[in-house]
Amino acid sequence: MALIFAIETSCDETSAAVYDDQKGILSNVTYSQIEQHKPFGGVVPEIASRSQLEKINPIVKEALKQANVSLDDIDAIAVTKNPGLPGSLLVGLCFAKTLAFGKNKKIIGVNHLEAHAFSPLLEHNVPFEHICITASGGHTSMYLVQDLGKYTMISQTLDDAAGEAFDKIAKMLHLPYPGGPVIERLAREVDFQDFYHYPRGKNKTIDFSFSGLKTAVLYDLVKKNAYDMRKKQFLRPNDTQLQKEVASSLLVCITDIFKQKLALAYKQYPHVKAVTMAGGVACNKYIRKQLTEFCKKRGLSFFVPSPKYCTDNAAMIAFVGAYMLKQGKLSDYSLDIFE
Ligand code: KG4
Ligand code: ZN
Repeated sequence: MALIFAIETSCDETSAAVYDDQKGILSNVTYSQIEQHKPFGGVVPEIASRSQLEKINPIVKEALKQANVSLDDIDAIAVTKNPGLPGSLLVGLCFAKTLAFGKNKKIIGVNHLEAHAFSPLLEHNVPFEHICITASGGHTSMYLVQDLGKYTMISQTLDDAAGEAFDKIAKMLHLPYPGGPVIERLAREVDFQDFYHYPRGKNKTIDFSFSGLKTAVLYDLVKKNAYDMRKKQFLRPNDTQLQKEVASSLLVCITDIFKQKLALAYKQYPHVKAVTMAGGVACNKYIRKQLTEFCKKRGLSFFVPSPKYCTDNAAMIAFVGAYMLKQGKLSDYSLDIFE
């Protein structure tokens, strides 16, 4: 039996968790800074790391309290090492190293993307081998997941991430940050209809590309006299019908792109037993439903984490930390964010 304490501060969340490799997640406490970044339409790195410095101590204490354990009971401390915003990663990493040094605990540096890729296993017994789609504001990739800690990236985005496309197009429509949840809400109000049939992409390879879609939406808005390119301004902020129609067409288009790319991956790896999806975009109920149906038709199981484990969270870092501890993959105090 092993008890892992984890810290995750890669972007705009401050999260701490306790994971028991026999009983599962004992606590997962996350402070989200969304409200602080909203006025800027995206994450401001300086604000993110300052907020993390303020929050990390109380969040760590709360995670230990909720799990009803003390640091003395912990076997190892896991922490996100990269990729992420350097200032933010450093807050978590320095805090974790200090705790490990002070309490003489093992320390394990965890790759942020590996943690997302294995997050569906936090709550589900997912069979190997499977394909995992990770889609967040910073990354969109597919992995062939062979075993705990054994995975190969089979596809990535050539330009923007899927979440970034939601965020940038929401901004174009004068909608608040983050774009994904608001686009989903507006699309639901018009029953997820595909009004404008945006292009599904010229790139027929397994890799993703979303920047062309962003340009297509922009030019379509300009054509409709709804966007001023020079002033970079949406001209019909009160036209909620237009916002809903664009939102809905966009969501259907991005979902179709996921289906297309997944079909290519499945063709390449027909032996897989399941498909998973992780990262902030995996919170989207429409995408979840569509991919569930897609997989069902092909006799594949589909697994997604609960929303709190889709977005950045320390529970997924602890989960990876737990198997890395078993595999003897430990770090030392030279652990850095550029490894
Ligand atoms: O994983 P995450 O919390 O942070 C990183 O980027 O690492 O993902 C945030 C992204 C944002 O781009 C946000 O717009 C998107 O996930 N997102 C969604 C939804 N909820 C969050 N995208 C589509 N539908 C959602 N319901
Ligand atoms: Zn993430």
